[in-house]
Amino acid sequence: MGDTPVLWVGEPFTVAGRGFWAKLEGHNPGGIKDRAALHMVRAARERGQLPPGARIVESTSGTLGLGLALAGVAFGHPVSVVTDPGMEPQVAGLLRAYGAEVHTVTAPHPVGGWQQARRERVAELLAAHPNAWCPDQYHNPDNVAAYRPLAHELVAQLGRVDTLVVSVGTGGHSAGIGRVLRSFFPALRVVGVDTCASTIFGQPAGARLMRGLGSSIYPRNVAYELFDEVHWVAAAEAVWAARALARTRYATGGWSVGAVALVTRWVARTSPPEERIAAVFPDGPHRYVGTVFDDDWCRAHRLLEHLPAEDPQEIAWSGETVVTRWTRCERVERPAPATRDGSRGTAETAR
Ligand SMILES: Cc1ncc(COP(=O)(O)O)c(C=O)c1O
Repeated sequence: MGDTPVLWVGEPFTVAGRGFWAKLEGHNPGGIKDRAALHMVRAARERGQLPPGARIVESTSGTLGLGLALAGVAFGHPVSVVTDPGMEPQVAGLLRAYGAEVHTVTAPHPVGGWQQARRERVAELLAAHPNAWCPDQYHNPDNVAAYRPLAHELVAQLGRVDTLVVSVGTGGHSAGIGRVLRSFFPALRVVGVDTCASTIFGQPAGARLMRGLGSSIYPRNVAYELFDEVHWVAAAEAVWAARALARTRYATGGWSVGAVALVTRWVARTSPPEERIAAVFPDGPHRYVGTVFDDDWCRAHRLLEHLPAEDPQEIAWSGETVVTRWTRCERVERPAPATRDGSRGTAETAR
């Protein structure tokens, strides 16, 4: 786990003379979240929050589940993963193969969506298993600290980083990598990538096809002060980029890799040629064979009908409009309570 390679992504994915470095976290056994899972479990054991042999229970759309299954095997803990029907059957199958129990909630919470429904199921499982521990990836500072080594790897591999492009789900890897890199390079530009219909940067919650990045709650781990700009990307745009990367560079991934690649391609084209740009690719393509890379599935979801624009739509602040296609905003703020439509009063929004 760790010490993943970087890959130069240039022409023809980008325009001549421009490119970026992709940190290939798909080279970890499960994906980027192996780092978070192992670190959170190790820290909880050291603090006595997770007694030897006690159960680990967590809500995840998959990648952290694979990491927790790895931690469960490594440290000797049973693992229960709570997910929703959007989890790819291959991932659920792999989790069971690695010894984890998979619990699937069947209906979204009327206000907090699937994430809130999953968290309520987690609470039930914690109550049913004395000594069980929940890493609570959305709010656990160890989920941020886990990514410090990744930042140091980038410094060793690239020498200098001028721009970092990162997807945001729980906020863990953007906060962990961004803070360390900014301490090395104070002028670092940090570009956040989210999905349309995600609440993280102040948009209203909506139905989301893309998994991994985005959220329907307000994770405390998101380091708003770090970001110079945020881009929201739609599913069809991420599919186009993930497929273009596969054809041109062989290294690809799923929703977050596609979204990050689309944005970084634009950052590379619009930055001076000497700018050193790093993009984090959280996982590889395998679990997306039945979705992002499946023509019938993509056609059924109308994801193959348009090419993305060459440039994002620009808005001055998140509340200006509800975004439905690739959009950029240079004003990044923690969503104010007034914009947290209907979500006030849930555990996730209490700070
Ligand atoms: C595939 C994938 N991409 C991106 C992310 C977002 O990462 P973070 O939770 O560190 O913000 C996740 C998180 O689960 C993920 O699984």
